[in-house]
Amino acid sequence: MKNIVSTLIFSLLVFNQSLQAQLSDRKMDSFVRSLMKKMSLDEKIGQLNLITPGWGVPTGAVVSTDVESKIKSGKVGGMFGVIGAANTRRIQEMVMTNTRLKIPLFFGSDVIHGHKTNFPIPLGLACSWDMALIEKTARVAATEASADGLNWTFSPMVDICRDPRWGRIAEGSGEDPFLGSAIAAAMVRGYQGDMSQPDQIMSCVKHFALYGASEGGRDYNTTDMSRQRMYNEYLPPYKAAVDAGCASVMTSFNEIDGIPATGNRWLVTDLLRKQWGFAGLVVTDYTSVNEMTDHGMGDLQTVSALALHAGVDMDMVGEGFLTTLKKSLDEGRISMKEIDQACRRILEAKYKLGLFQNPYRYCDESRAARDILSAPHRAAARTAAASSFVLLKNQNNTLPLSKNANIALVGPLADNKRNMLGTWAVSGVPEEAVTVMEGIKNVAKDANIRYAKGANISDDPTFVKRANAFAEEITVEKDRTPQQLLEEAVRVAQASDVVVAVLGESANITGEAASRSNITLPGNQTALINALVATGKPVILVLFTGRPLALEQEAGSVGALLNVWFGGTEAGNAVADVLFGDVNPSGKLAVTFPRNVGQIPLYYNHKNTGRPEGPDQIGNRFRSNYLDVPNTPLFPFGFGLSYTSFEYGPLQLNKTSLTGSEILTASIQLSNTGNVDGSEVVQLYIRDLVGSSTRPVQALKSFQKVFLKHGERRTVTFNISTEDLKYYQYDLTHDWEAGDFDIMIGSDATTVKTARIKWSR
Ligand code: BGC
Repeated sequence: MKNIVSTLIFSLLVFNQSLQAQLSDRKMDSFVRSLMKKMSLDEKIGQLNLITPGWGVPTGAVVSTDVESKIKSGKVGGMFGVIGAANTRRIQEMVMTNTRLKIPLFFGSDVIHGHKTNFPIPLGLACSWDMALIEKTARVAATEASADGLNWTFSPMVDICRDPRWGRIAEGSGEDPFLGSAIAAAMVRGYQGDMSQPDQIMSCVKHFALYGASEGGRDYNTTDMSRQRMYNEYLPPYKAAVDAGCASVMTSFNEIDGIPATGNRWLVTDLLRKQWGFAGLVVTDYTSVNEMTDHGMGDLQTVSALALHAGVDMDMVGEGFLTTLKKSLDEGRISMKEIDQACRRILEAKYKLGLFQNPYRYCDESRAARDILSAPHRAAARTAAASSFVLLKNQNNTLPLSKNANIALVGPLADNKRNMLGTWAVSGVPEEAVTVMEGIKNVAKDANIRYAKGANISDDPTFVKRANAFAEEITVEKDRTPQQLLEEAVRVAQASDVVVAVLGESANITGEAASRSNITLPGNQTALINALVATGKPVILVLFTGRPLALEQEAGSVGALLNVWFGGTEAGNAVADVLFGDVNPSGKLAVTFPRNVGQIPLYYNHKNTGRPEGPDQIGNRFRSNYLDVPNTPLFPFGFGLSYTSFEYGPLQLNKTSLTGSEILTASIQLSNTGNVDGSEVVQLYIRDLVGSSTRPVQALKSFQKVFLKHGERRTVTFNISTEDLKYYQYDLTHDWEAGDFDIMIGSDATTVKTARIKWSR
């Protein structure tokens, strides 16, 4: 009876919610309809225009004059690159006082991993495998961004990437579609909520689609893949963001099946809008309409018409829409219906943001002082940073260090504020960042620290010049040679008991337009590591990086290796928290580390081939392998150590033969057998042994991050249904196929307990 009543109440609530939603949709619809009736063609086209006046707009001349006149004459629908509530208010006022219909503007920005309080780069955050934490980082980011006048973030970036040469691998969640999808949804929830509050902003999933599969890892390059790979491996995170309610989507620079994404009607209309039911706003990437000319798709008028016809609504920066759509309409190359559709979607997004009710909703100048870089936000950033670190090696418990250790702190990133935030910290404040040196001093007041830079991040003048094009993140010592820097570091090491070497990449050699063909430690840093190791002192490598590096030799020689990505504003404190054991590391790799660049693409969920390299066949000829390197990675997907040890008991299944809708329960007893409390990410993988198409050797299907006190044990259970077995088959039917499956549970993709089951229809 109780159950019936609660089911009834629940159904009524759901019914009521959907009724409310329908009513508010109807209200929006009639509002937008009547507004559009008043709009001229020029005003409609103006809404499709997204512009930027450049970064860091000063409070004086808010925007350059022609931008100002465009705003005043209704030729702009939104802006990005204008930050600060006073600035956005002033521009919004300009719209309210000068334009006929007073349609408020969007104010967007790339709030990628925090606004002014920066969290770890997304690839690092992904390694936390902690969805609540990731959602919270997006929540904080939205709170700060909205306090700074913004109502739209160009995030989450969910491009699956299996090629660490691509600099933008730093901006995404790594190689796995399941983990990537969970993160995409968490970020959308964090940014947007239900968009009913002034600290909830519109999110924009990008870059739709497949941008992470650029050939050779070279940015903006061609992508080409089968539909099956697309649907099974690359599209799921975009879809997860859309399913989570993401209100906007950004098209990518690359082509798909020979047609650039921005002009690809199959992608934007057939797949996104029709198959996935996306009703929101589609914006291009930066000048990606215009770039279709270089892709070979025609002149600006042609490519602009192509983009609109594809289903794109808003043109970022290039003004192809603004300058050519009218002509195309006159010539019958596009229809009024297409312009109306795009305009309507933009107005609806503005309506949902509450901008028509109050154009200044996001322009509350009193909020910044309270909401930006606040103590709770910084505390959240510190926790998030420590959660993103991955302990890749810890021989003989080199870590944690004692708080009164005698430390040689070496390396170009050891005392370096500029590089803590990482790529895409558009509004980040480097001066607010905590360096590793500062963090160590904060956490271990009694430690004795001797510092030496040891190496420049790079000594190659051309590389440095290209990297530093926008900001000097690589500083090259003018007065000392690389050899002198190295010798000083060796002397410092010799006088200490342990070496903490803080090395890696600068932020500006990661991210957009920062592809590398060689993914080793840049500059003289490997020589530095070798010299430090040769002193015989234990060496801890604290690695800052935006991508997996090929580190086989360094990883072999150091005592401990802690990968810290770029941790954000609180990076240094978080590094110290982990180095001295206040925080036990629990990050697990969201991306495979190859042994060398020649193994790329190297990813865990690969196919088997007809000549797989079995464990007993290493080095055999006529198998799918290399003569000069094993197939195995340096560090596999899902891998990460802890200061404690976890033991996995036998894998237990409720049954080994199932039919149809039955549920398989797979459990394992997890014990914390070490001396400290810690968290472990327990991972569930499945292999479909026989399919109508070939299936990957394993695929992540679930995971749980479990905290256990030392000595504690817990049964970790996964419920598996046929939903987890489904995949896109040759004809793109999404279904499961009866047969045998291997169920694997373990601590990383290669360390699993396996049992076989049979599932029949
Ligand atoms: C990037 C996008 C970004 C846009 C606006 C482009 O170059 O590809 O990710 O959102 O610029 O800054």
